[in-house]
Amino acid sequence: MQKVLVLDFGAQYSQLIARRIRECNIYCEVKPYTITPDEIRAFDPIGVVFSGGPQSVYEETSPHIDPAIFRMGLPILGICYGCQLMAYTLGGTVSAATEATAREYGKTLTHFDTSDTLFSGLPETSVTWMSHGDYISAVPAGFTVTATTGVCPTAAMADRAQRLYGVQFHPEVMHTEYGAQMLRKFLFDVCGAAGDWTMRDYRASAIAAIREKVGSGRALLALSGGVDSSVAAALMAEAIGSQLTCVFVDHGLMRKDEGDEVEAAFSKWDIHFVRVNAEVQFLSKLAGVSDPERKRKIIGEEFIRVFEAEARKIGKVDYLVQGTIYPDVIESGLGNSAVIKSHHNVGGLPDYVDFREIIEPLRMLFKDEVRQLGRELGLAEYLVMRQPFPGPGLAIRVIGEITKDKLDILREADFIFRDEVAKAGFDRSMNQYFAVLTNMRSVGVMGDGRTYDYTLALRGVTTSDFMTADWARIPYELLDRVSTRIVNEVRGINRIVYDITSKPPATIEWE
Ligand code: XMP
Repeated sequence: MQKVLVLDFGAQYSQLIARRIRECNIYCEVKPYTITPDEIRAFDPIGVVFSGGPQSVYEETSPHIDPAIFRMGLPILGICYGCQLMAYTLGGTVSAATEATAREYGKTLTHFDTSDTLFSGLPETSVTWMSHGDYISAVPAGFTVTATTGVCPTAAMADRAQRLYGVQFHPEVMHTEYGAQMLRKFLFDVCGAAGDWTMRDYRASAIAAIREKVGSGRALLALSGGVDSSVAAALMAEAIGSQLTCVFVDHGLMRKDEGDEVEAAFSKWDIHFVRVNAEVQFLSKLAGVSDPERKRKIIGEEFIRVFEAEARKIGKVDYLVQGTIYPDVIESGLGNSAVIKSHHNVGGLPDYVDFREIIEPLRMLFKDEVRQLGRELGLAEYLVMRQPFPGPGLAIRVIGEITKDKLDILREADFIFRDEVAKAGFDRSMNQYFAVLTNMRSVGVMGDGRTYDYTLALRGVTTSDFMTADWARIPYELLDRVSTRIVNEVRGINRIVYDITSKPPATIEWE
C-alpha cells in the first residue's frame, strides 16, 4: 500500500492536508515533526508533506527537522512554515516581514511559473490563501522561484532534480483556487501515486488495528445513537464482536422521544446493548450551572462515571471506545491550537478515567468521511445521514441555567421545527438544524393578555465538514409555519428569531 506522510509542525490544518490526500485515494498519516529518519524509512512513504506552523524558523524554540530527511531521496512538499523550514535548513534565507505590506493574510493574487510540475496546465494567475509574517528572501542553491505575489518574492520554489517543492500559501484550504489540483500534481506527478486506496481499505486496516490492540480483552462503547458513535459501534462490532458492550446513556438531555428511538434501533443489532437512565444524576449535577464550559465539563465527567459503573458491572473492561471525530479534537484545542469549546468527549473528559485506554477509531476522520465509512460498513442510510446531535445534548441549547421545565419547552419546540422541516422536504437541504431556548424573555400579547415569555432561536446550517458553516436560507413560508405552530402549541415561548450568522464568526451550537 502506498503511503504519504504528513509531518505536523503545529498547524491547525494538518488533518485537513491529510484529508485532501485521502480524497485523492491515497493512504496518509499525520506524525509529529520529531520523527527520526529511521522511523520515516520504516514507515516507507512515497512522499512527505511538511505542514504549516505558528512559529518562525529562526526562533530558538521553533520546530526543526533532521536535515538527513532531505537526503533520503523522498519527494517533499513544504507548506507555509514547512516551505520556510525547507529553505532555511537547505541554506536559503528566511526573513521577518518588517513592513506590514510584506505580510500576507487571506486571499492573495499569485503568479505561477506554469512550466513547473506543480502548476502545469493551471492558469498563470490565480488566488491563493496566505497566512504568513515571514518570507523566503533567498532560495537555497538548486532551487528556482516558481511563484510570486505582489509582495512576496517566493510564493513557491522547487528543486525538480531533488523532487523538493515548497509553497508559501495553503493549497489544502478551499480558498486556494487550484490548491487541490496542485496537491494532486505533487502526489501523482512527483510522488507517482496510483490513487487506488479506498474506504474499504480504511475499514480493513482500522479493524486489524483494533483487533491487535484489544486482543481478547473487553471494550465498552459510548453509544449516543448519532452518526459517529453508530459508525464506531459498527466498526468495533465487526472487529471484536461479543467482546464489545455498547452503553447508551439517557441523560435527560435528549430530544423528544429520542431515548426510546435509540433503544428500539440498537436493540435490533447483534450487539450487547445497555440503556442507562441517568436523568436525575445529570440534572442534579447541572443544577444552577450556567457557564457553557462548566456544563460541558460536568457532562463529560458524568458520562465517564456512568461508563465506569457499567464497566464494573460487566467486569474486566479495559477499553472505553468513543466516536470522537477530528473536528471534536481540533476545537477542543489540540497542540498549539486554541480551545473553541470543550467537546464533551475530548476537552470535557475528567483528569482521571478508570479505563486502561480510550480507543477512538474515527479520531482522524471528518464527518463526511465517517458517513462514507458508515456506508462501507453497511449502515442504513437514515442512520448515516442523521444530522449530528452533540453529546451534551440540549444542555448546550438551553442557554444559561438548565431546568427540567426549560428542557421540556425546548423539546416540544425543537420537535415542531424538525417536523415542519421534514414535511416541507427541506431536511436534505440543511446539514444541521435545531432550536435553542435563549435565556431572554420579552413582552408579548396573546388572547388580549400580556405575556412575558422566552425567546426561541431557530438555527439551520449548511456545511460539509462542520468546521465552517453557512446559515441555511430557509424559505419564509416554512419559517412562518414553524413560528406560528410553536407559539401556539408550546407554552412559555412568545417570540421566535432565526439565526443568520455563519461559522466563523459564530459557531453552530450557541454554547
Ligand atoms: P460548533 O458548535 O463547535 O459545532 O460549531 C460543530 C459540530 O460539533 C457538534 N458539537 C459537539 N458534538 N460533543 C459532540 O459530540 C460536543 O461536546 C459538541 N459540541 C458541538 C455540533 O452539534 C456541530 O455538529
